[in-house]
Amino acid sequence: MYRISEELAELGRRRMGGAQVEGFVYGQGPAEPELMLVGEAPGEFELVDGIPFIGRAGKELMKSLASIGLRREDVYITSAVRSRPYRWGTKKERDGTLTERKYNRAPTAKEILAHAPLLDAEMRDVRPKLIVTLGNIGLQRLLGKGYKVSDVHGQLIERPVQYLADPADRTYSLTEDVRTIIPTFHPASVFYNPSLREKVEEDWQAIGRALKRHGRR
Ligand code: URA
Repeated sequence: MYRISEELAELGRRRMGGAQVEGFVYGQGPAEPELMLVGEAPGEFELVDGIPFIGRAGKELMKSLASIGLRREDVYITSAVRSRPYRWGTKKERDGTLTERKYNRAPTAKEILAHAPLLDAEMRDVRPKLIVTLGNIGLQRLLGKGYKVSDVHGQLIERPVQYLADPADRTYSLTEDVRTIIPTFHPASVFYNPSLREKVEEDWQAIGRALKRHGRR
């Protein structure tokens, strides 16, 4: 099992400063996994148990893994941001009363930059056969804003990835080594857009085929 150091986790917490985020969920999985999955940020349910992708999206993700013969223990799961970004919103209860509650939201560029050294360490230390990005946040964190999941999902991309050469930097540098990435949609995307389900299933079959072809690098 691989885990980033406590010092690095603490650095991540400090770099978040006054951002509207809560909790901290470590990336989880073996150091030499079949796949490394890069998501967005933990949500409400992940904070409870400290396990990534344990909520509704996680159940979808586990089905996708099972469709190519993999289990949670076979993969390393992480994300661009390790704390839950939230916003306050109003919920109407069944009896009509209004309550204030926290809702998940996508992480901002600043929050992604704050936790960049954490993902950089995981990218350096974890040696998966393949990296799978889940949604635009993970994809653009590694390959840049020019990539869109709707354009490149299911494609095998061999490219240097973005990292912070100096933790004080505000722009990313590119690694010298090349990593092998297959982007797909975030598992929650099918909840908002059920017509994506077929594409997601096809992407996972492409990931399964690529795993069979790819040796360990
Ligand atoms: N979305 C993510 O990107 N990560 C989680 O752990 C849960 C939902």
